Amino acid sequence: MSDADFNAFARVIHAQTGIVINDGKRSMLVSRLSRRLRKLGLSEFSEYRRLLESGAGDEERRELVSAITTNVTSFFREPVHFDVLKGLVPELSERARAGDRIRIWSAGCSSGEEPYSIAMTLAEAWSGVQAADVRILATDIDPEMVEKARRGIYAPPQNGHPLPAAVSRYTRRQDNGSFAVDPALRSIIRFEELNLLGAWPFAGSFDVIFCRNVVIYFDAETRLRLWRRFAERLRPGGTLFVGHSERVDADLEPLLQPAGVTQYRRTTLSTK
Ligand SMILES: C[S@@+](CC[C@H](N)C(=O)[O-])C[C@H]1O[C@@H](n2cnc3c(N)ncnc32)[C@H](O)[C@@H]1O
Repeated sequence: MSDADFNAFARVIHAQTGIVINDGKRSMLVSRLSRRLRKLGLSEFSEYRRLLESGAGDEERRELVSAITTNVTSFFREPVHFDVLKGLVPELSERARAGDRIRIWSAGCSSGEEPYSIAMTLAEAWSGVQAADVRILATDIDPEMVEKARRGIYAPPQNGHPLPAAVSRYTRRQDNGSFAVDPALRSIIRFEELNLLGAWPFAGSFDVIFCRNVVIYFDAETRLRLWRRFAERLRPGGTLFVGHSERVDADLEPLLQPAGVTQYRRTTLSTK
């Protein structure tokens, strides 16, 4: 891959996703794009670059996103967040009883284990959650992941570990050994393809936002912009969870107060 092609791919990927591809990621890029080239019957990176940059490149740019994103996730990843969420249930259920809509967003949901873990946590602590006005929005830029999340069918753990108890309770084992999420639980989740850097075509604010292990791949400016947009979409008192290695910039503390190492509470200050 020539430097010119590498730089052009890095530019397209950054513009498309916010993900920064620096020199250290060159071999990853070569290996992942080589697969795309083989699939398309192309022999040169320069031909692939021409395709991406052409008017006909829209569909391939989506494939590029799928090829480049890191989708590692698991049920109840970073379990402390689900304990905190469980602690929020009395307040959320009280508000739902009083007629409020409760909205939770899993932003960068990958193959769905995160939103299903959220739904399972609610269902365990809140009998009748499925009848309340509670919805989880689960979005990801990668169309393949959104499709997988929507299906809600998972292979058994590779390492021979047992499934977390809540996962066993809310899934049904299938003949081929995979397990499928309970349709009633799935019905409170809406899955959508969404690029976090683009417009967010939904109204209303959220009580809780999970955006974990997504922005680590972004540059500082893109991260800061995104944290601010999340703050604008959280209702006062709402909670933002971020990944274990991520922190919201101190500049935003007037809007997002640390409430734990990787959780933030929206203050009542206006974002205007
Ligand atoms: C490592 S996974 C994290 C999944 C889950 N949040 C967790 O912590 O287990 C990162 C996800 O972010 C998604 N992603 C990357 N850039 C994105 C963007 N600009 N908009 C939306 N999703 C994005 C990827 O497709 C990937 O599925």
